[in-house]
Amino acid sequence: MLTVAIIGLGNRGRKYAYHFTSLGAKVTAVCDVNKGMLEYIRKKYGIPETMAFDNEEDFFKAGKLADALVISTQDRDHYRHAVKGMELNYHLLCEKPVSPLLEQCEELERISREKGLKMVVCHVLRYAPYYDKIKRIIDSGAIGELTNIVQTENVGYWHFSHSYVRGNWRREDETGPSILAKCCHDLDLFYYYTGKACDEVFSIGERRVFLPENRPEGAPARCLDGCPYAKTCPYEVTKLYYKPTLKTFPWLLGHVKVITGKGRPRKKDIVEALKNSPYGRCVYACDNDVMENQVVCCKMGNVNATLTMTAQTARCYRRTHIMGTKGELYGRDSDGYFTLNVFGELPKKIRVSSGIGHLGGDRGVVKDFIELMETGLVTPRLSMMDKTIMSHRMAFAAEQSRKNGKAVKL
Ligand SMILES: NC(=O)c1ccc[n+]([C@@H]2O[C@H](COP(=O)([O-])OP(=O)(O)OC[C@H]3O[C@@H](n4cnc5c(N)ncnc54)[C@H](O)[C@@H]3O)[C@@H](O)[C@H]2O)c1
Repeated sequence: MLTVAIIGLGNRGRKYAYHFTSLGAKVTAVCDVNKGMLEYIRKKYGIPETMAFDNEEDFFKAGKLADALVISTQDRDHYRHAVKGMELNYHLLCEKPVSPLLEQCEELERISREKGLKMVVCHVLRYAPYYDKIKRIIDSGAIGELTNIVQTENVGYWHFSHSYVRGNWRREDETGPSILAKCCHDLDLFYYYTGKACDEVFSIGERRVFLPENRPEGAPARCLDGCPYAKTCPYEVTKLYYKPTLKTFPWLLGHVKVITGKGRPRKKDIVEALKNSPYGRCVYACDNDVMENQVVCCKMGNVNATLTMTAQTARCYRRTHIMGTKGELYGRDSDGYFTLNVFGELPKKIRVSSGIGHLGGDRGVVKDFIELMETGLVTPRLSMMDKTIMSHRMAFAAEQSRKNGKAVKL
């Protein structure tokens, strides 16, 4: 039976604990600086007290505690944890983005290669049935050779405000640019679909909404401090976190653990978090600086690919349109189907049964990682570090281009 240790038991780490356990692996050790969450997960998965660590020093000093290490700490911690993990010869399942610094990504790729350790990056979309099916159809040749890809990443105004205005990924210096944090998945799909390295990138980006100059007159710094716009503002926190309508904000219901840092938050914990944590701030009075709206044009060999990431959408989903010499594919990943148009034939609706957690991608990556560890077989779908580093290079080039106003050759 495969054994895994997990460092970082936040929103992502908890999901990995669940998926590994339910797919037959065993979580043997855990580490998180949040003692309450550490204890909650330790008890939930029956992990002995001696195998639960509230600091990384003791965790790594304890030696190798499992076959593989899952790294689900924050973006700027992955590099440090991956280096320490590989010193102990752990195989790694590492959250994306691997690091906001290209040198660190390259160094991790080199270490894993030289030591013969498997390092899989959680580019989970590859494993979601919707994207997996699209890849299979492309590979079957049904739409001929790819010529163009247009992808839109509609983040959703509520998701963007949670993660990129109030939350963890709001500042480039603390995590990284939003095009890396949110969209390295999409850039990875460009590489995965085309099988071609990116030659050139051009990008433009903007911040329009979440700016101090848009703060309405008299709006306090926190929503719960008697904001006169509470009824009409779509970002008002009680609407988002404790009176969400299931139709509109189901995603945020699962994020009350994130804002409270507690395994089983009660309403009073949520109110407390909204009074005191960054998640209770007026969206126009935050210290955010990441782009809200960015367009990236990529030349993938002879395929042109464009990505638009935007905060200003009601729902959170990706729209895909893939053109080939003999046909096209288009759809929205949240719909559970896409349309295949082979030229000269009638359109075909291709249905896919998506799961939860990145449409089934969270479970999919764990399943494939277990298979990799058990069989050693590296399938083309696997987001191994040496392949998925391309997505990070593209994101870094997009940022460079956005800042300098010039295309960047890779
Ligand atoms: N693959 C995806 O699609 C996807 C989606 C969302 C987030 N992510 C990435 O996953 C990672 C984790 O995101 P999250 O949403 O779970 O964040 P989170 O903040 O909820 O979780 C991070 C956890 O790490 C713990 N931690 C912080 N410093 C630590 C340390 N030194 N040692 C041990 N634990 C420490 C925190 O207490 C927290 O529980 C991030 O890199 C994020 O960008 C990936």
